[in-house]
Amino acid sequence: MTTTVGQVHGRLAVDGGEAIVPGGAMMISRWPRIEASDIERLADQLRAGVLTEMTGHALIREFEARVARLTGTRYGLTTNSGTSALHCALAGAGVEPGDEVVVPALGYIGCAAVVVHQGAIPIFADVDPLTFNVDAATVAAALSDRTRAVIVVHLHGLPAPMDELHELCADTGVALVEDFSHAVGASHRGRPVGGLGTVGAASVMAGKNLPAAGEGGILVTSDRDVRNRAARLKVFGEAVDADGGYQLVHDTLGWNYRSNPLSLSLAARQLDRLAGYNEARRANAMRLDATLAELPGFVAPATPSGARHVYHMYRLRIDPRAAGIAATADQTREALRQAFWAEGLPLVEFQNAPLPAHPLLRDKRGLGRGCPWSCHGREDVTYEPAEYPGALDALRHSLVIGMPSHGVLCNDEVVDNYIRCFDKVAANWTAFEQFALTLPSKAPWDVPARLV
Ligand SMILES: Cc1ncc(COP(=O)(O)O)c(C=O)c1O
Repeated sequence: MTTTVGQVHGRLAVDGGEAIVPGGAMMISRWPRIEASDIERLADQLRAGVLTEMTGHALIREFEARVARLTGTRYGLTTNSGTSALHCALAGAGVEPGDEVVVPALGYIGCAAVVVHQGAIPIFADVDPLTFNVDAATVAAALSDRTRAVIVVHLHGLPAPMDELHELCADTGVALVEDFSHAVGASHRGRPVGGLGTVGAASVMAGKNLPAAGEGGILVTSDRDVRNRAARLKVFGEAVDADGGYQLVHDTLGWNYRSNPLSLSLAARQLDRLAGYNEARRANAMRLDATLAELPGFVAPATPSGARHVYHMYRLRIDPRAAGIAATADQTREALRQAFWAEGLPLVEFQNAPLPAHPLLRDKRGLGRGCPWSCHGREDVTYEPAEYPGALDALRHSLVIGMPSHGVLCNDEVVDNYIRCFDKVAANWTAFEQFALTLPSKAPWDVPARLV
């Protein structure tokens, strides 16, 4: 890595130079991409008053059927968010209060919150610090004879090792629940994720690879009983007959997780473009991989063989020792984050703590009065962040491209600018190192949480 101030690139913006994207890249990578015909379609729908599950029945059923086909499953069930889809998936898989559910230690809070919502006990599995996903060994370490389900998250769009996980769950009779919010259209050994376990659930919120016009979620399964139990939780615990029809009898407690047909209409249109967007993300990720391969100390996200990554986000690792700089990992990560933002190019942490470190879990606040732990005599369960070294290592040594605007990785021009920025940092390596050394050395979980 050169140590001279880059003549081609100029000084870093964080060092008083000119930014690569002076106005910031956010405005040129808007997501979702909306075409004029999308606006017309949604306006027609508004005029026609197709705004509830009842009036939007036909379009919702069609969307469910299309996502089921995409994932190689028989049934789809829309909800109002990814979190509610995941909650319905747990109910569908037969998870009951007091059961244990294994959850990745690195993920989104919704993945753990749904377990608590179901009155069940989250048990965390560590992640591999290179793939950022769980594997069969870490999940096996979290299983017990009380485990009812394992939630696997295909984090950032990379499929988890589903063959091994499937085998492990089949051997132990545990339901396998896939969270494919980041990974719609990704596949594992040629088979689409979402349909590889007992049930899959995904967010189609407007930031995702498959974006709705706001919030939305979908669950997929080939098991009719799973689908019908999930459908019951979705609508106030209303009884569901074998064919999926509601019976206006509330025999269990449920929620109102009904979906919004206006929001899903946009997702249905985006579904036609999903393959193209995912291809664009993959091509741009390969360009970033090639750039990072030239820079000592920067490591591109791992893509194990058989996994088709769709890069909802691109999480790169940074190793200051390999880069030959004297700053700590925390200083280097923070310096890189600030340097990119100053150039108008967001680099984010996307999670600054493992899930078990959140007070909801660490302090077992749960539903209140220590439930579900206290309700089921499970005060013995503890959540110690140090028990998840893979997640801690990942957070300490990595940053993410692809947020806050989720359109970044589909946008060739913006990715060109990211590549330019990596080159610019490399060309200003000494100044970058000096800047890093001025920053406090703080782990991401020791600074106030922030998205950006
Ligand atoms: C991996 C993952 N799972 C679940 C969710 C929850 O989805 P939603 O925000 O639609 O409830 C998210 C959130 O964005 C997520 O990133």
